[in-house]
Amino acid sequence: MTEGFPLRGKWNSDFFCNHQPIVTELGCGKGEYTIGLAETMPVKNYIGIDIKGARMWRGLKTAHEAGFRHVAFIRSHIELIEYFFGPCEIDEIWITFPDPQPKASKARKRLTSPLFLERYRHVLKEEHIIHLKTDDKGLFEYTMEVIATGNHQLLYHTTDLYQAGLKDAAAEIQTYYEKIWLEQGKPISYLRFRL
Ligand SMILES: C[S@@+](CC[C@H](N)C(=O)[O-])C[C@H]1O[C@@H](n2cnc3c(N)ncnc32)[C@H](O)[C@@H]1O
Repeated sequence: MTEGFPLRGKWNSDFFCNHQPIVTELGCGKGEYTIGLAETMPVKNYIGIDIKGARMWRGLKTAHEAGFRHVAFIRSHIELIEYFFGPCEIDEIWITFPDPQPKASKARKRLTSPLFLERYRHVLKEEHIIHLKTDDKGLFEYTMEVIATGNHQLLYHTTDLYQAGLKDAAAEIQTYYEKIWLEQGKPISYLRFRL
C-alpha cells in the first residue's frame, strides 16, 4: 500500500538535500506553523499537508518568496500519510485547529483518533512529539482520553494557553483560525504527547 510516492522515505536525501529533522503540520490551512517554524527554526525541515489547495497557496507563496528550501507542502488527505513518509521519517507533528468532528459517528475522522494515531506511529521516529492546538473543549477532552486509554505519554497540557505563561512555539505562532477564536474571546487548549 505504500509504494508509488517517489519521495517516500527520501525527503531528506532527494528533496531537502540535508539531514535536518522533519516536522509536519496536519490540516495546515494557510500553513502558519509551517512558515512560522521555518522562519524561527531553520535547522529543521517543514511539510504542511492539507486537502484545500487554495488555502495552502498562501503558505506556499510565502515560502517561495522567502526562498525557503526547507519547506514543502502536500495537497492530499492526511489519511494517506503513510504513502508520503517512510518509517521513522518524521520527528514532530503539529495538529493545528483541526475540524472537531463532534458527532460520535464521525469520531474516526478526528485527527487525534486512535486510527489516525496508528497511522502517525508508522512514520514517526521513536523520540517524536505530537502537538495539538484547539479551541474545541470536546476535542481536547476526547484527545486526553485517547492519550490515557492508549497509554501514551502526555508531556504537557493546558486549557488556557495564553494564561499558562508558555514561551515557545505553541504560544508564539497563531494560525488563521486561532486568531478568529481569540477575537471571539475563546481560550485555546494545547497539549503535546508521545505515542
Ligand atoms: C479548521 S481548518 C484549520 C486550518 C489551519 N490549521 C488553521 O488553524 O487556520 C482545518 C483544516 O484541515 C483540513 N483538513 C481536515 N481534514 C483533513 C484531511 N483528512 N486531510 C487533509 N486536510 C484536512 C481542512 O481542509 C482545513 O484546511
